[in-house]
Amino acid sequence: MSLDQNLEKVVIIDFGSQFTQLIARRIRELGVFSEIVSHKKIRTSDINQSVRGIILSGGPLNVYQINKYSFDKKILELNIPILGICFGHQILSKLNGGRVKQSKHREFGLANIFRKRDSLLTKNFYNMKKNKKVWMSHADQVSKLPKNFQVIASSTNSKYAIVENKLKKFYGVQFHPEVTHTENGKKLISNFVFLICKIKKNWSSRDQKIKLINEVRDQVGTHKVICALSGGVDSSVVAQLLNKSIGKKLYCIFVNTGLLRKNEETQVVRTFKKRLKMNLIYVNAEKEFLGKLKNVSDPEKKRKIIGNLFIKIFERYAKKIKNVKFLAQGTLYPDLIESKSVTGSQTSKIKSHHNVGGLPKKMNLKLVEPLKFLFKDEVRKLGLELKLSKEIISRHPFPGPGLAIRMPGVITNEKLKILKEADYYFIQALREHGLYHKIWQAYAALLPVKTVGVMGDNRTYEYLCLLRAITSEDGMTADFFEFRKSFMQTISNKIVNSIRGINRVVYDVTSKPPSTIELE
Ligand code: XMP
Repeated sequence: MSLDQNLEKVVIIDFGSQFTQLIARRIRELGVFSEIVSHKKIRTSDINQSVRGIILSGGPLNVYQINKYSFDKKILELNIPILGICFGHQILSKLNGGRVKQSKHREFGLANIFRKRDSLLTKNFYNMKKNKKVWMSHADQVSKLPKNFQVIASSTNSKYAIVENKLKKFYGVQFHPEVTHTENGKKLISNFVFLICKIKKNWSSRDQKIKLINEVRDQVGTHKVICALSGGVDSSVVAQLLNKSIGKKLYCIFVNTGLLRKNEETQVVRTFKKRLKMNLIYVNAEKEFLGKLKNVSDPEKKRKIIGNLFIKIFERYAKKIKNVKFLAQGTLYPDLIESKSVTGSQTSKIKSHHNVGGLPKKMNLKLVEPLKFLFKDEVRKLGLELKLSKEIISRHPFPGPGLAIRMPGVITNEKLKILKEADYYFIQALREHGLYHKIWQAYAALLPVKTVGVMGDNRTYEYLCLLRAITSEDGMTADFFEFRKSFMQTISNKIVNSIRGINRVVYDVTSKPPSTIELE
């Protein structure tokens, strides 16, 4: 287990709460670095000088299931402020000699807490009110306070809703200050960070930029780095960061699979090669991809063929560059923590096919992953700090297998041409109507059925175009976007009238789950 040595930080010891990442994000939003570590991995010896505060997260466990969690008790003796949240509050109380038992009433949802005593933790928290609405989610609760602890606030069901040991700087809250349902919860976290841990701000996009540019320089030295550039947010930010850091020692490879959105290849070349002056190797592999995909209609086969061919082509071109030592990847913080999840959640599995895995294996390259401590919104801000355009930074996600999985059935040149046009008109219309940024992801798909239409005096027999536009937080769940009728009319007319090959437009109104975002 190794924590960053340089930046002052709050370490969050994760006991499997669904909100752990949110705690880290709240702290970082305050401009302070924060790292998440699993309770199974962290030992006292890992806690270095830079750790100025510790948060114990919530979790699905019960403090008496001692064989299910591990916690090095010596962490309590390090003289570092600790905030326990929910399960963290219970374990902190128990380890200090208090007691925890099953609550008479389980509490899930909003509860009122009442001020009992003043504390640094609750400074300016109540805003003149006596009580505050907080978000509870627990079955157990602290039933006896440890020695030298005091009650700061209570709810009807939880006497020890906020507690403190002022001398040791130990704090416990039964509710979740990190979720937005807790009124002014951010203030509690900010008080813990600034008034109790006394950390100074150190985590702006500018700080990150300088730190990461230097770190990449240190790691890479005089060697060369290759990077698979897709034009998406993550790979664009990685490429631009490395560009600023090591300049011409970076070689980006952009593979045109023929399955990209209309004009994508021109835009990527224009932005990265012409404007940002990167070493960009543009590979036009349209024919190779379409050849391999000929007559293939099984979605899983399509994904495999595309993934494997992509790696093959990437390697072919990477080998032409002499003395490459490193491969840069846009791994983000959630990828890192999900794969080490304490609760063993399935999320990482669901996502595994989304990443181009296996790239470096054969080539024996070391990884450069400069974004591995950042959340997606931080990556976006860093991108802007690196002077990437807003247009690149706020793009909708686009899958690696591209239009292939938006075209159930066999892939043909004709169908691709039709789909590219439809998608182009749809996205264009969203931008013109100021809707693009209200939507998490939108695209057109081409269904493998033809239906009858009437155009002028002729009957037509053409494809069906499906439009999908969703709202989402992270792509794991999603709901369809509600368009006005006038917008839907405009776009369906535009598509049917302008594109030969489509005579009907439908809108996908399923949510995820039970449906999914892409068609295949
Ligand atoms: P699904 O369809 O799984 O999509 O609900 C969730 C999100 O992931 C994207 N997606 C992919 N991204 N390679 C990628 O890089 C893929 O194979 C892939 N499949 C889905 C999808 O666009 C959506 O944003």
